[in-house]
Amino acid sequence: MNDLFQRIGELKLIPLATFDQAEHALPLADALLAGGLPVAEVTFRTDAAEEAIRRIANRGDLLVGAGTVLTTDQADRAIDAGAAFLVAPGTNPKVVAHSLKRGVPIIPGVATPTDIELGMSFGLEVLKIFPIEVLGGIRMLKAISGPYPQIRFIPTGGISAENMLDYLELPQVLACGGSWLVGRDKMANNEFDAIQKSIAKAVALLAPEPAGG
Ligand code: 3PG
Repeated sequence: MNDLFQRIGELKLIPLATFDQAEHALPLADALLAGGLPVAEVTFRTDAAEEAIRRIANRGDLLVGAGTVLTTDQADRAIDAGAAFLVAPGTNPKVVAHSLKRGVPIIPGVATPTDIELGMSFGLEVLKIFPIEVLGGIRMLKAISGPYPQIRFIPTGGISAENMLDYLELPQVLACGGSWLVGRDKMANNEFDAIQKSIAKAVALLAPEPAGG
């Protein structure tokens, strides 16, 4: 497993951030760092995404990737802005091939065995599984991963502080992704303290203090 995926596996959570204003990029980066989760997946769902990635990548103290990468043009813009990895909701062979050609890891989304095998045909070993809770949650993940023991999954879609540990304890899960950690509305209202608190709360759940400590 390469260094990037190893790092994602250590962090265990990938917060999705959808920016309405690139000016929120640095306050969010501060909140993520202070909360103990120095990683963000910036979704290409708004015009501010590219500039937000650039601002976070330029700091050099956070792992930043691009999410919702649907086209090769978005892949290029994300990579040129400094994205260290790309994520997509589905497995678009053109986007996957293009990202790999540019030397940037991509984590495409899967929902069926056919999707998984398409990802494997590109040599991928880490895949997002989306939208996991609607697909069937833990039971679905256990069942679908049976034939593919070499694949590690990043379940996303319906993950929360309540269910993330159930996923993370599965050996086939590398990390979980989710938008609940950041919250687009909270960012729009400049509630970065609340964001930091929700991140710190999730991080504390990942590594509870030893009893009496
Ligand atoms: C995604 O693109 O991965 C989803 O929007 C994340 O799902 P969530 O909002 O349920 O976390």
